[in-house]
Amino acid sequence: MSKKIIVTGGAGYIGSHTVVELMHAGYEPVIIDDFRNSKPWIIDRIGELTGKYPLGHSIDCADEKEVLSVFRNYTDIFGVIHFAAYKAVGESVQKPTMYYQNNIGSLCAILNAMKETKISNLVFSSSCTVYGEPSTPAVTENTPIQKANSPYGDTKIICERIIENVKISGQPIQAALLRYFNPIGAHPSGKLGELPNGIPNNLVPYITQTAAGIREQLVVNGNDYTTSDGTNIRDYIHVVDLAKAHVKALEWLQNQNKPVCEPFNLGTGKGTSVLEIIHSFEEVNQVKVNYKIGPRREGDVEQIFANPTKAEKMLNWKCDYSVADALKHSWNWEKTL
Ligand code: UD1
Repeated sequence: MSKKIIVTGGAGYIGSHTVVELMHAGYEPVIIDDFRNSKPWIIDRIGELTGKYPLGHSIDCADEKEVLSVFRNYTDIFGVIHFAAYKAVGESVQKPTMYYQNNIGSLCAILNAMKETKISNLVFSSSCTVYGEPSTPAVTENTPIQKANSPYGDTKIICERIIENVKISGQPIQAALLRYFNPIGAHPSGKLGELPNGIPNNLVPYITQTAAGIREQLVVNGNDYTTSDGTNIRDYIHVVDLAKAHVKALEWLQNQNKPVCEPFNLGTGKGTSVLEIIHSFEEVNQVKVNYKIGPRREGDVEQIFANPTKAEKMLNWKCDYSVADALKHSWNWEKTL
């Protein structure tokens, strides 16, 4: 069985950690990434961590011709992990067509190339955003999908549906739709981590940059929610735990003998508030974060966390790291930048 895996967005935050875990598990990743949201030296870091440089192609994933020529370049691809996508909620409201074109265009290019080259296994990066504002905070895969509150969220819902429809069409596809909760942390070695483009949108990079003095003050987006301390609750998962789930998903796909399109929640099952994250960061790293309470951010869900039972059972996966570990690793990473 060939162990080559095409990894789009393999130089990105979750992608690079996944490439390392794939290599540790004996797979041979082939990265497709044009570094628009990463840096080429991330590939060197992967090489340092694994003792081997992954194969790579610097092309735009939404470019059908280029994508197909990469797929045709190899005769022994076992599957595809498709990370490459835009992910900033606010930007997607400003530039909706850019989001639909890139996120949907790249998935279609990948699916067409898979059909053409007879590759059936696909792991797709989805998001808990598909659940919108759930009626109960702990969501299972059966929690209804809701109307998206941003074009970004809409692209994830549409992409999931495209894959399902491709399965219905008779293309022999085997797909795992991985619905990520909130990935945080960095590689424990300090060699890999998140590289936000400009001002971070996400909480933890904003915290680390504030602690490092790059940002003056963190604004907590509202403390008048009906949660214990009034701030939003999310399920923060260590990026290495998330990366390992992709390896497990490939193993699961290998054991399927008919077309599938199966969603999995990837979270810890535990909700943590914004203030708890800030205070835990200060405590584990013994560093102060300058913050103030501001207004609510439009489109924020009050609270959501995963019921990860399905992934734990079917993928034989579980989280090993705590939120405190992740916050420690994020700070270690920030200090290297
Ligand atoms: C968002 C998206 C999620 C997407 C992820 C990718 C929604 C509802 N969520 O997650 O689908 O996959 O981004 O990046 O669309 N916060 C502050 N101050 C800050 C930054 C954040 O208080 O400066 C708060 C937010 O209001 C939120 C929490 O921290 O309550 C987490 O925010 P963030 O890291 O942006 O992730 P989500 O919004 O949960």
